Amino acid sequence: MSKQAEIDYFENMTEEARRFAQNKPFSAEQRGAYLIDIGQIMGLIPPPPGRLVDLGCGSGWTTAMFSKSGYQALGIDIAPAGIDLARRTFGETGADFEVHDFENMPFNEAFDVAVLYDCLHHAGHPQAVIQATYRALRPGGEVVVVEPGRGHHDSPASQWARETHGTTENDMSPALVIPLLRLAGFSSIRTFPRAQFQVAEKEGTGGIIRFLRPLIGSAPASFIKTIKNSLFIRNNGVVWAKK
Ligand SMILES: C[S@@+](CC[C@H](N)C(=O)[O-])C[C@H]1O[C@@H](n2cnc3c(N)ncnc32)[C@H](O)[C@@H]1O
Repeated sequence: MSKQAEIDYFENMTEEARRFAQNKPFSAEQRGAYLIDIGQIMGLIPPPPGRLVDLGCGSGWTTAMFSKSGYQALGIDIAPAGIDLARRTFGETGADFEVHDFENMPFNEAFDVAVLYDCLHHAGHPQAVIQATYRALRPGGEVVVVEPGRGHHDSPASQWARETHGTTENDMSPALVIPLLRLAGFSSIRTFPRAQFQVAEKEGTGGIIRFLRPLIGSAPASFIKTIKNSLFIRNNGVVWAKK
């Protein structure tokens, strides 16, 4: 599990994977979930204009969305081929893209907002990433961290990615991220339910609680839902913090 594997991933992409990356989020089966995530992030960060850094931006679709909504957005990634693809695909949106290792970004109080979307779980040293993010933000700057939470490490998709590409695929739950933010110096830290799961509840445990409500009554069902949500947020929520 090495940084070189993260770089090689984009170098060795098949044509089909490249097309998928260029058309993300619309090319993905979970496009609704991706769009909800971006909507949730935009709802949590201060409104544009502002200087925003998008860490581990990959093919750049999130950076492009931030740029189109009025931020001065910079996407950074360790993979030069990813940054090249991002520039070619989304350069016209006004977004900038640069190659950097997020564990030692060279920025000092340069941004109002930092976004870590689906990337911190690839870090060998997540504390270094959070410390570099802290340095990159101006005092009062805000960060949002949205990651696949508990269970990601052992998921079939992660096992496949590790075996095929050698990429790092760790669990990165709020329960793990919050201590890193505290240690780096972030003062206010909050956790929110991940909005995409509210929609997915249609098929999941939300359905079970709807089923239980007529059997056990409204108040006990709401109590179970509150406990379930607070446990779930620690494992799979969205984290916001202010410097
Ligand atoms: C799962 S992809 C997500 C990409 C993008 N955020 C998205 O949602 O499409 C994780 C990204 O993190 C990047 N990455 C991994 N290690 C990195 C590092 N040390 N510094 C910067 N980026 C890194 C990878 O190159 C990859 O683009």
